[in-house]
Amino acid sequence: MSEFKEISASEISDNPFKLIGSDWALVTAGNSQGFNTMTVSWGGAGIMWNKPVAFTFIRPQRYTFEFIENNGYFTMSFFDESFRSALNFCGTKSGRDTDKVKETGLTPAFTEEGVPYFEEARLVLVCKKLYAQNLNEESIVEPSVKSFYNGDYHKMYVSEIVKIFTKS
Ligand SMILES: Cc1cc2nc3c(=O)[nH]c(=O)nc-3n(C[C@H](O)[C@H](O)[C@H](O)COP(=O)(O)O)c2cc1C
Repeated sequence: MSEFKEISASEISDNPFKLIGSDWALVTAGNSQGFNTMTVSWGGAGIMWNKPVAFTFIRPQRYTFEFIENNGYFTMSFFDESFRSALNFCGTKSGRDTDKVKETGLTPAFTEEGVPYFEEARLVLVCKKLYAQNLNEESIVEPSVKSFYNGDYHKMYVSEIVKIFTKS
């Protein structure tokens, strides 16, 4: 984390709608023995149980899902625009079939807690899972939401943002 400095959640200057919805992020989970990463553009950041939290939604068929399920922490890495093609790659290919690190050239690194992130990121959120729940058809209020699903309901993770690293 040599180039990074640690900041608090209230010091994040990015607009969260642009940050998550337009810039996208890589969600990365696992450890130095094995990890996987995937692109996300749905989710949020805010306050829950008096803690700064990230809300992340992962479909169960993602390879990354297994790594999130099997570990207490994951990271969200945000990049500048020059990494758009890497994020596109990680959002369209599965780690089951391809080596995303090799193909994108991204450099994995590990936090003190052993959680994987990427050196090239401009902002890294270290997330500790607090609560996880499967979305389900019965809970849908507005019927049009069903069009996003074919039985593959996301699992929602509410995670405490325990550390934030930035280069800017
Ligand atoms: C821009 C973008 C945003 C995405 N957002 C999500 C998301 O929020 N949740 C999700 O489950 N999948 C999302 N995906 C799909 C996964 O990134 C994609 O299925 C990926 O290939 C999964 O890789 P894996 O099988 O190695 O985990 C998104 C894809 C793209 C391109």
